[in-house]
Amino acid sequence: MEKPPLTAAPKNAGRILPIILVLLLVLGLGGTILLQIEKQPELAPVGRGAKLAESAGCFACHGRGDGEKRFNLRRREDQWAAKNNPSLWEGDITKVDELVEWITNGVTADEVEKHKRLFIKMPAYKDRLKSDEIDAIAAWVLAEGLKSSQGVGSSAKPIEETHQSPMGDRLLVQGDRLSRKYGCYQCHGELGQGGVANPASFKGYIPGFFGQDFRKLTANGDRTEILHWIDHGRGAAVESGLLGGIAKKYLDGQAIPMPGYRDQLTAPEKELLADYLLLLNQTGPLSAKAIQRIIPLLESEKASP
Ligand code: HEC
Ligand code: HEC
Repeated sequence: MEKPPLTAAPKNAGRILPIILVLLLVLGLGGTILLQIEKQPELAPVGRGAKLAESAGCFACHGRGDGEKRFNLRRREDQWAAKNNPSLWEGDITKVDELVEWITNGVTADEVEKHKRLFIKMPAYKDRLKSDEIDAIAAWVLAEGLKSSQGVGSSAKPIEETHQSPMGDRLLVQGDRLSRKYGCYQCHGELGQGGVANPASFKGYIPGFFGQDFRKLTANGDRTEILHWIDHGRGAAVESGLLGGIAKKYLDGQAIPMPGYRDQLTAPEKELLADYLLLLNQTGPLSAKAIQRIIPLLESEKASP
């Protein structure tokens, strides 16, 4: 006589199991794809330009700073004379068109004859880089140049006493000075344009003050959230809710955490910074031309009201 099985398996068990497995696989795959989409880098022209300058080999012939020399020679009559190449900032070029002309043609129209007498000549990149790539490099050169003209840390240009947060270009100038003074750009990129690497962070870099990255971390540009980040170096909203645990895990595990500025900044400074970040976010990723417009504002001692 046949004994009934000890655990009576339902008749259709053989069919349910594969279905469950397939469902789990679909969920897992879907989750992985979503995560990959979420992790897509968001690069502004400045951050993109930094990478492109590296891959285009600019530093073979140009120093990374004014102290870093690059060998070259120039012919004078029948003699070769020693001459170093300038860094990308030595000539103080602040016009996009001029930078674009150099990169596109390897020389500008009025330097052609002089350039011919050089031992090492600059290559034209017009067939190697697309015009938006050349623009991105120009944006990066302009933004990077501001470090030396505007100063950093305690050598940053002074901030005016304001009782009320300024607006428009004045806010831009004052916010920029505060950001330089307190090192925000060191981590968040020049002009808050992002792209600074951060191992084991969610996207592998520290986000700038623009775009989806910024909005996701600040509950869509919420002023109180921004102030919370400034005080604690952490977000409140992003660490709560359904996915809060994941955000927390990344914030705890990343190589470079943000310091909390609660006791380092005065209340008006925090307010001004929050307004400045909102302004940058509203403006969006800065093009080379946008940075060209900003430079003279920052150079002038006092921005016009
Ligand atoms: C093979 C060498 C070489 C490479 C690579 C090169 N350059 Fe140059 N570049 C030069 C030389 C040489 C000059 C002219 C220097 C001079 O006149 O004293 C120059 C001049 C310039 C100038 C004008 C500088 C000034 O102050 O007058 C800019 C801007 C510039 N290069 C940008 C770039 C960028 C951006 C890249 C990468 C996309 C690049 N260069 C790659 C050799 C090079
Ligand atoms: C030592 C590096 C460092 C410094 C300095 C720094 N931050 Fe951060 N900041 C971070 C990191 C890391 C995050 C978290 C990004 C993440 O979740 O991947 C962050 C996040 C933020 C966020 C959330 C939104 C966004 O787009 O990143 C704001 C707002 C912010 N910082 C503002 C500031 C301000 C203002 C200053 C200067 C007063 C500053 N930070 C200085 C590293 C820094």
